[in-house]
Amino acid sequence: MTRYAHIVGWGMSVPRRVLTNGDLAQMVDTSEDWILSRTGIRERHIAEPDQTTASLATDAARQALLLAGLTPLQIDLIIVATSSPEHIFPATACLVQDRLGATHAGAFDLSAACTGFIYALAVATQMIATGGYERALVIGAETLSRIVNWQDRATCVLFGDGAGAFVLQASAQEGGLLAHTMHSDGSGGDLLSLPAGGSRFPTSKETVEKGLHYVSMNGPEVYRFATRVMVSATREVTRKAGIRLRDIDRIVPHQANLRIIEMAAKSLGLPLERFVVNVDRYGNTSTASIPIAVCEAVEAGKIKPGNRIVLVGFGAGLTWGSAMIEWVIAGQGRQAAWWRSGFFLLRILARMRSWLLQAQRRVESFFWRG
Ligand code: COA
Repeated sequence: MTRYAHIVGWGMSVPRRVLTNGDLAQMVDTSEDWILSRTGIRERHIAEPDQTTASLATDAARQALLLAGLTPLQIDLIIVATSSPEHIFPATACLVQDRLGATHAGAFDLSAACTGFIYALAVATQMIATGGYERALVIGAETLSRIVNWQDRATCVLFGDGAGAFVLQASAQEGGLLAHTMHSDGSGGDLLSLPAGGSRFPTSKETVEKGLHYVSMNGPEVYRFATRVMVSATREVTRKAGIRLRDIDRIVPHQANLRIIEMAAKSLGLPLERFVVNVDRYGNTSTASIPIAVCEAVEAGKIKPGNRIVLVGFGAGLTWGSAMIEWVIAGQGRQAAWWRSGFFLLRILARMRSWLLQAQRRVESFFWRG
């Protein structure tokens, strides 16, 4: 029997602090008009000092679980797609697992830059389809503000912080993620990278002095690549799913630049209104951009049960990919007050469990005589 992966919960979390183009014009040599006309971005959200990739990811995941009417204990798998992980290791997904108290879940990070959320959806769907897993949390989360050089006008105006999450659940009913594509071309790895802090250029005084711990980008080359692959990946996934392009209800593209989305719409011969666009309010939140856009589109009634939607993204690597989704379940959300309170209790229990496990480890190491 074919198993499908349905999206039964979705959630997002963005920091409260907003940085406008006007604010940026006071920080670097740029103007409100330049940023808006070249990118379509008006403002972006920036994490407070106490917010991190894991905390935003956990908040988004809780929203998605609440809507799905599931507890963290029912989750088998957590994948966090991120370009700005909490650490190189442990995986941000493990920190999220601990904070949620998802005691039965395996957890790992997935690195495919801005295409990461689509890659993670594909991986989770396959793991559900083959029968090993029932429910997975797929999260895209970023605090790019921590790895952007705030003195480099060519990059700092583009990015923002945030997180988005989906809960996937196995079902025998046709729907959910119907087809996907994943592509890569490492020959373009130098076009968009964070050069230092890994094994090639371990962090040193020199790497910091040269600013190699910040995002480095060849904007025009990435732009050219993006406009090409957005079109090819959208066409490819519709072919794979056997659905005509004109029968697609919505396209949710990676939110990097309005001009890239407009060019893709033109090349595909589709009206821009069919595309979900919120880059003006969030900038490029990398792996979080597609799930955040989906959450807002569902909330605004732009994605409805029965709709066929294409998610399409591109990013560093180079990577690109797409997913065809039939939006079947309208969210089973148990929004009742008792369910929300129960969820709050689970949150406290998860925190207590984490402390107890740490205390147990300390006591054991005190008595342990190897
Ligand atoms: N404010 C004012 N001027 C700026 C600027 C800024 N924030 N950033 C760059 N400029 C200047 C450049 O220095 C250049 O000046 P010059 O002609 O005197 O050398 C001029 O603007 C044009 O630069 P260019 O890079 O050619 O601009 P562009 O029209 O290609 O737009 C991007 C730049 C970054 C907006 C565009 O290339 C882009 O969106 N690329 C894709 C980036 C992306 O999506 N990355 C993430 C992928 S997941």
